[in-house]
Amino acid sequence: MSKAGSSGPVEDSPIGSTLERHLLDRQRRMPEATGDFTGLFQQITLATKIIASRVSKAGLSGILGLTGKTNIQGEAVQKLDMFANNTIVSTVEAGGHVCVMGSEEIEEPIAIPTQYPQGKYVLQFDPLDGSGNIDINASIGTIFSIHRRITPEGTPGTLDDLLQPGRDIIAAGYVVYGSSNMLVYSTGEGVDGFTYDPGVGAFFLSHPNIRIPERGAIYSINEGNYHNWDEGIRRWVDWIKTPGENKKAYRLRYIGAMVADVHRTLLRGGIFAYPQDVKNRKGKLRLLYEASPMAFLVEAAGGTASDGKNRILDIEPRELHQRTAVFMGSPADVANLLRFAITS
Ligand code: AHG
Ligand code: MN
Ligand code: MN
Repeated sequence: MSKAGSSGPVEDSPIGSTLERHLLDRQRRMPEATGDFTGLFQQITLATKIIASRVSKAGLSGILGLTGKTNIQGEAVQKLDMFANNTIVSTVEAGGHVCVMGSEEIEEPIAIPTQYPQGKYVLQFDPLDGSGNIDINASIGTIFSIHRRITPEGTPGTLDDLLQPGRDIIAAGYVVYGSSNMLVYSTGEGVDGFTYDPGVGAFFLSHPNIRIPERGAIYSINEGNYHNWDEGIRRWVDWIKTPGENKKAYRLRYIGAMVADVHRTLLRGGIFAYPQDVKNRKGKLRLLYEASPMAFLVEAAGGTASDGKNRILDIEPRELHQRTAVFMGSPADVANLLRFAITS
């Protein structure tokens, strides 16, 4: 029988608490917090819910005659990645929390219209990662990171605010739109995962304090590029899939959406790699929209993230759409890769 009256907080981080509650608890632990960060996060979350709802209807568009360049009303149909981009921009720009945004879909910095306050944060995002998976109903996602602005408060943000290294990220996260939708985020101290309940319309804590295993048994790479890789990467892949003394052959898993491949790597361990090759001498993945935020999460979960030479979070960005090679995951698995990559 329960007693009447308040019994105080149940637990510190109870499974089943909402993302909103989690953010508010965090805000209360920081006496200097103004609620700005919580406000920005709520807007990002709202945008991902709108994107999720649209993604879940993507398959219906063919049946309902909405494919092609125009819909049945004769209106232009936006590509889903532009729809996702525009949803994030329009949800966040009026909130007064950011001064500039950067998106994988937009070439230049996204300014905040002058009728809105210029906030103290900088938001960067890949609105829809793995968009090649939409037509086959496989996992896709949204990736984002938040920096504090470095230009004076109250003025419009600039390119300098966007070109900050990953080590200065104050929060990063992603949402995977898969068999269920999950939001995973970190402010640098631990990584928490929330699962979306569409009936309630809220994310609930399902994976508190995600820690990546020290070593995994899966490697994740587009092996179709084998003949375009440098010698060291080829030798590493030959080694990782060959059983040896005290070593099983690793299993290969590759979905083709970084967000989903890294999500699995965070939960199960192993390594995700997208090396440079003869076509992409600097790698294919984007430093600011893909590599840095995911590196921030992997490190916060106890993993390692490297471009083959340097820590990804220490790379100084020089341009918005800069690319980089990516090797991230369990510390022991990335260390093994680096031994091959460095001796090549
Ligand atoms: P996007 O859909 O945002 O352009 O990103 C696709 C990226 C990344 O998610 C994935 O890991 C990689 O491209 C897959 O590339 P390959 O098809 O070359 O393997
Ligand atoms: Mn992407
Ligand atoms: Mn994208």
